[in-house]
Amino acid sequence: MNHFLDIHTTDPADLRAMIDSAAAMKAARAGRPKGTPDDETPLAGHMVALIFEKPSTRTRVSFEVGVQQMGGAVMVLKGDEMQLGHGETIADTARVLSRYVDLIMMRTFEEATLLEMAEHATVPVINGLTNRTHPCQIMADVMTFEEHRGPIKGRKVVWSGDGNNVFASFAHAARQFDFDLTFTGPEPLDPERALDGLYTTERNPQRAVEGADLVVTDTWVSMHDPQSARERRHNQLRGYQVNAELMAKAKPDALFMHCLPAHRDDEATSEVMDGPHSVIFDEAENRLHAQKAIMRWCLGV
Ligand code: CP
Repeated sequence: MNHFLDIHTTDPADLRAMIDSAAAMKAARAGRPKGTPDDETPLAGHMVALIFEKPSTRTRVSFEVGVQQMGGAVMVLKGDEMQLGHGETIADTARVLSRYVDLIMMRTFEEATLLEMAEHATVPVINGLTNRTHPCQIMADVMTFEEHRGPIKGRKVVWSGDGNNVFASFAHAARQFDFDLTFTGPEPLDPERALDGLYTTERNPQRAVEGADLVVTDTWVSMHDPQSARERRHNQLRGYQVNAELMAKAKPDALFMHCLPAHRDDEATSEVMDGPHSVIFDEAENRLHAQKAIMRWCLGV
């Protein structure tokens, strides 16, 4: 069963094939209206369920459009409108959905929920974000880097800010795609210990970005963080804002990424987000192409 649960649990050769497939599918439909099908429609006859226990713009729309472009049918299920949100077990939900659909994408809180869904589903399950990881996002990010700058292997990527779930998937990708990853952020917001060995830490953001090919940040307060922590986090992270001064310390052709949604002028200034280094909207678009490749890999089509 080809579940796509995390980058570090997926074979590097398969990850590479997915990135290449995504780039090829993107090129093949360049300039076409978004609602037209691809020349190949490998998901014809397939039904995909997208489960959201948290809000989403990019993940929801890119998966829906991607399924339709590949000829499949898609349904969106909101967690609180399902029996899952009212006491039905994850295992029973997985068994039932597997009788109706060919593929499940799930965005949830606890990683354990996703893993239980995958354990009991008899169809592939895709991780659409948990509190621990966001692998679909980082597949799009790798694709975006390579689209602009060629192979990511051996390049220097610097993450500035909170060591959150998106960072975790970057750390997994650093090993699988063989690039160097530096974390710069305050000690209380360090990444989880399970990621030790996958990145280096440099507390000084100016020193961290020296020689960087890519600078990345994310919101200072994630969906799973309590809003009561907002002020404290802002105070901890203010020195790690990605602004023009910081970008000037990276390589002259360094890229800037943010998975979005952003809080403009908090974690990154609008000057950087809309500036010449930024590829944030290519990154958002590539969610579509990368996830199409992930779905094909899951289904073997
Ligand atoms: N980056 C990302 O996952 O966006 P959404 O929360 O809008 O899906």
